[in-house]
Order: sequence, then structure tokens, then C-alpha cells
Amino acid sequence: MRISDKPVAARLKELGVELRPGVSLKEKTSLAIGGTTDELLLRRYETIPQVMRLLASEQIPYRFLGGGTNVLIADGELPWVVLHLPVAHPGMRIEGNAAYVDASADLGGMVTFCAKHDLGGMEGLIGVPGSVGGALRMNAGAYGTQIGSHVREVELYRASSGEIETVRGNDIRFDYRHTSFAPDDVMLRVKLELPSKPYKEILAAIRVCNEKRRSSQPLNQKSAGCIFKNPAGGSAGRMIDELKLKGHRVGDAMVSDRHANFFVNVGEATCADMLRLIDEVRERVRTAYGIELENEVIVWKN
Ligand code: EPU
Repeated sequence: MRISDKPVAARLKELGVELRPGVSLKEKTSLAIGGTTDELLLRRYETIPQVMRLLASEQIPYRFLGGGTNVLIADGELPWVVLHLPVAHPGMRIEGNAAYVDASADLGGMVTFCAKHDLGGMEGLIGVPGSVGGALRMNAGAYGTQIGSHVREVELYRASSGEIETVRGNDIRFDYRHTSFAPDDVMLRVKLELPSKPYKEILAAIRVCNEKRRSSQPLNQKSAGCIFKNPAGGSAGRMIDELKLKGHRVGDAMVSDRHANFFVNVGEATCADMLRLIDEVRERVRTAYGIELENEVIVWKN
């Protein structure tokens, strides 16, 4: 959707928004898949409510893009603009055992920043790609760590009230790859409370997680991490592997031959290719195991 040549563009600029016309979302996603649209960089959190009111009054549909590491975006010209919170450096500070982190900050960067201040508990998250905001929304987790366990407060833009609000950690439900945030809540900042741990010990635990990840996941290929959630008590990756689907392709979308729950873009895969591969694999698992796999990756259709 193109709005850069419309009168609304000047009003957005007054609110501190930087408008980038015709951005290819292939460049913004770890799968290197996605169509084209205008991108709005929200440089000033405090103007977000006004920006959102303006978009609503002009009937401009939008989607919020975080790190782009867990999303599969439609091909072609997209019918909505993309909003993005640019990264502010360093975007994090420590006070005692509390870490205050911007949602736009890199998740791995946050883990190492806290480690350098002798704050641990998040070692398992080290290799999870993406932004802190995306990790909060999905309750990202790996190797026994889930970000939700450490959350004390989240500052967010709540679309239902049109205001920036602070929500206490106890009032948020963090489940497996799911939270009680509304789909249109926009994460802005988080306060985490972390256990004290010497930097050296944290580093040793981080090395172990990195090694496990390197040996089992296709880290140097274009992917969105795991495509499906694990069903209760089961493993999506193991089932897909047992069905001998590693290497199975639709166009340039392929089931990784390293980890069967990672689907990789081995060239010029489109969203349509990836969606067909997801459907085919889901169908094979349903037929063989009677289990309906649920997407872990977030799909933005147009
Ligand atoms: N397995 C196979 N073949 C495969 C892949 C896995 O047999 O191709 C087997 C493994 O041998 C193991 C079991 O399946 O016995 C589970 O595999 P793994 O330890 O790799 O973990 P996972 O359940 O597949 C989950 C998360 C990952 C996270 C790892 C490590 C989900 C959907 N996935 O994977 O998160 O990195 O544990 O904690 O919960 C993600 O969220 O995108 C993601 C990659």
C-alpha cells in the first residue's frame, strides 16, 4: 500500500514518523519472503497513540513488524503499511536485578548485556533470533528458558484503549508460545527481574546452548525457526522426520535436512510455495498420526 504521495504523509512526518516508500519485506525477514509496501518507522513512542488515531481516521490498514524472524509474509503489493520501531542504542539499562529493555532491542543482545552485568536466567534464549518485543508476544523459549518467567512489567500501546499502558507481569498469562496480550497490543518496553549469576557461569551455559543449537538446527539457512508448535507431549520435528519428509520441496521452499520442523528458503521461494509446503506436511502428519499441527510461524496473508 502506498501512502507516501498522500497528504497524510506530511502529518505523519510532523509526528516524528519516517516514511520509507516501497520497501521489499524480503529484506526484512529471516525467510527472505514477503511483498512490497510503505514502511513507517515510529521514532517517538509518545506519539504512537496519535499516529494510530491518524491511521484509523484515514482508514489505512497496518501491521507491526518486529525482528521479522517468525513471520511468513504474502507476496506482491501488500494491502497494508508496515509499522516498525527502530532500534535505539543501547535500548537497555540495569538497576540492581532489574533490566529495562526496549521492545525493539535484539533478544540475543539483551541476554549478553544482562550477562555482562552478572544477571542470568536467560541463557537458553541466546540463539533465538528476533526482537525482545516479538519474544514477549510469543513467549519465546528454548532449552528450558521462557522469557515470560522473568517479566515484571510491560509497557505497551493498547489499541483497545488507544493509550500507552503499563501492565504488571502477574496480570499477563505466559503459556507455551502464547500470551494473553491482545493481537493488536504493541510491545514498547519491558522490565525483567533476573537472578544474580557470575558472568563466567552464564557464558559457560550460553556456550552449551549455542553448541546444542549448532548441532541440531540449520542456522546458516533462511528460515523462521520452527514452523509448527509441538503438540502436547510430542515433537513436530520428530514426526516430520519419521515421515521421511526432510528435503521435501515445493519450489524453493524445503523441509530442512538438518531439523525437520525448520522449513528453509533455498533460493527464491515465495510465500505461496511455503504455504503449500506447510499444508502438505500438515496433511501428511494428520493422516499418519491423527494430529493437527498448529503453526508456530505467524502468517500475514493479503
Ligand atoms: N528430532 C528428530 N528429527 C528432527 C528434529 C528433531 O528426530 O529433524 C527429535 C530430536 O532428536 C529430539 C526431539 O525431536 O528428540 C525434539 O527436538 P529438539 O530438541 O530439536 O527440539 P524441538 O522440540 O524440535 C524446540 C523448540 C525450538 C527450540 C528447541 C530447543 C518448538 C516448536 N521448538 O524444538 O524452538 O530451539 O526446542 O529448546 O517449541 C522455535 O521456536 O522456532 C524453535 C526453533
